[in-house]
Amino acid sequence: MADHFYLGILSLNSNLLLAPLAGYTNLPFRLCVREVGGFGLASTELVHARSLLEQQYKALELIETCPADSPLAVQLFGSVAEEIRDAAQWLEAAGVAVIDLNMGCPVEKVVQRGAGAAMLRDLEKTGRLVRMVTQAVKIPVTVKTRLGWDDSRPDAVHLAPILEDAGVAALTIHGRTREGAFAGSVNLAGIRAVALSVRSMPVFGNGDVCNPQSAKRMLEETGCAGLVIGRGALSNPWVFHEIRAALDRCPPPPIPALEERVAFMTRHFLRAVALRGEAVACIQFRKMIDWYARAFGPCTALRLSMKHLHSTTQYHDLVGRFLEERRGAAGTAAPMTAAC
Ligand SMILES: Cc1cc2nc3c(=O)[nH]c(=O)nc-3n(C[C@H](O)[C@H](O)[C@H](O)COP(=O)(O)O)c2cc1C
Repeated sequence: MADHFYLGILSLNSNLLLAPLAGYTNLPFRLCVREVGGFGLASTELVHARSLLEQQYKALELIETCPADSPLAVQLFGSVAEEIRDAAQWLEAAGVAVIDLNMGCPVEKVVQRGAGAAMLRDLEKTGRLVRMVTQAVKIPVTVKTRLGWDDSRPDAVHLAPILEDAGVAALTIHGRTREGAFAGSVNLAGIRAVALSVRSMPVFGNGDVCNPQSAKRMLEETGCAGLVIGRGALSNPWVFHEIRAALDRCPPPPIPALEERVAFMTRHFLRAVALRGEAVACIQFRKMIDWYARAFGPCTALRLSMKHLHSTTQYHDLVGRFLEERRGAAGTAAPMTAAC
């Protein structure tokens, strides 16, 4: 597979992309996972276009970035075309590389407002909205959606050519419907049908890709141009390198040792502390630990204790004890440092 991938005018160094994950793919996580590398583009979580135009604190926090956090897509959601257009123009002026439009969020309060997956229900209106955005900015505009509103309607097959005609640079398809939420397995044949419905717009496959096997299967069975990976990268930030090596038929990269995985988690935690403050970082890590724990092996005591995390000192204490226990020798844990 090519080293470089073109998203409109933008050259990416990989066709493996980091998916937007609300509450997870924030600046501290993105900076850490970028140090490991192996993917071409990262995205913010979904940001409400109007909240951004109103300069609401929460929206501005979601788009917080820095030069090392590049290239970056900001994912917008909303239902008012003019608001999305204006937010996209503002983001372009601020230096964002890509605008991604969310058309897949299944959450009730989002779809009730006609945003997220509700955009699959009125394709003409959605097409007009998207055209207004693509005509207003020079940077690539991409779309992320699901296969359809429910299992009886392959909406994305009809939407994809409309998006292509409206000037969208790439489309990501999560291989489930709005009704399917996160249940069951991804419908690879459904993604393939979407990929076949367009002339040349790249279609990215998404859903349940977490290792080289699932990545190969997604690419082979869908004919997609690339992959968008979410949860697989939360538990294993090295997954992009592992997949790339397999796709390029290279020997697999060395499996990161437990210490390396824990050091990654610590860098992430300390960056979150530096950016958001100790209290917020501790609360975030109470849920984050479940993802890291998947690759830590037996770690019930650490996982349960982290559910009550309240300070940086406690973090170091818990993690230090965990490593000591795993090494079977008290007092030999390596000091953990993190560059923020
Ligand atoms: C906690 C969580 C938050 C998510 N937030 C977003 C989001 O903000 N925008 C979006 O387009 N998709 C979001 N998704 C969907 C993912 O981007 C992705 O489509 C889905 O998880 C399937 O891919 P995966 O199996 O690689 O995780 C979210 C999923 C999860 C589990």
